[in-house]
Amino acid sequence: MTERVVLHAGCGGNRKEQMPPGFQGPEWREIRYDINPGEAPHIVGSITDMSAVATGSIDAVFSSHVIEHLYAHEVPVALREFYRVLKPDGFLVLTCPDLQSVAEQIASGKLLEPAFRAPSGPISAIDILYGYRPSLSAGNLFMAHRYGFTAASLAQHMAEAGFGRTIAARSLTYDLWVVAPKQAAGDDELYRLAGLYMPPIPPWAGPAAALG
Ligand SMILES: C[S@@+](CC[C@H](N)C(=O)[O-])C[C@H]1O[C@@H](n2cnc3c(N)ncnc32)[C@H](O)[C@@H]1O
Repeated sequence: MTERVVLHAGCGGNRKEQMPPGFQGPEWREIRYDINPGEAPHIVGSITDMSAVATGSIDAVFSSHVIEHLYAHEVPVALREFYRVLKPDGFLVLTCPDLQSVAEQIASGKLLEPAFRAPSGPISAIDILYGYRPSLSAGNLFMAHRYGFTAASLAQHMAEAGFGRTIAARSLTYDLWVVAPKQAAGDDELYRLAGLYMPPIPPWAGPAAALG
């Protein structure tokens, strides 16, 4: 069995068990990475400076609900860091809020009404846009959201960071999911990666689409 390494970027309290099914096999070894030492990551650091991680050393980067906490000018820096640490045949799996769906909710007049119920409680469009209010009111101001993405804008950011192509899907729970191999890939490979590394659980707003 060849070991493969997945860097769990901005892991929070999550572990490999909370990652998509494709990462659950014994061949995947997780390195937990977070800016908050309280989460007891293997590496403490920001995704905007991953100098503790060697160039071309990682098989996959997984990042869930982290990039929206960066300022606009930091986003390209973090995406380039993800690109740098990946091996040539590596890939990125990233999920973050889908501002297009949130905008549709707001345009229909529903800013504060619960949009869906998460394990932590009801979530409204305002929480998805600016950060989860209960976390912010508890004093965790680093949980504020500072930037946002649509599928098209995220694919554009990915391309500008060097990624060959991106496959994206929007969930009905206002999340975007993207999978992007470091090198250009054909449709078959993109859909194979999406099938493995996008979770089967979210009710999807539509099928995954290859972009770029
Ligand atoms: C909303 S939590 C998401 C946690 C987990 N990935 C999940 O999906 O539940 C955001 C996490 O990103 C981390 N974080 C925020 N800014 C970061 C940065 N610049 N670099 C690395 N981690 C960061 C926070 O410490 C926190 O653990």
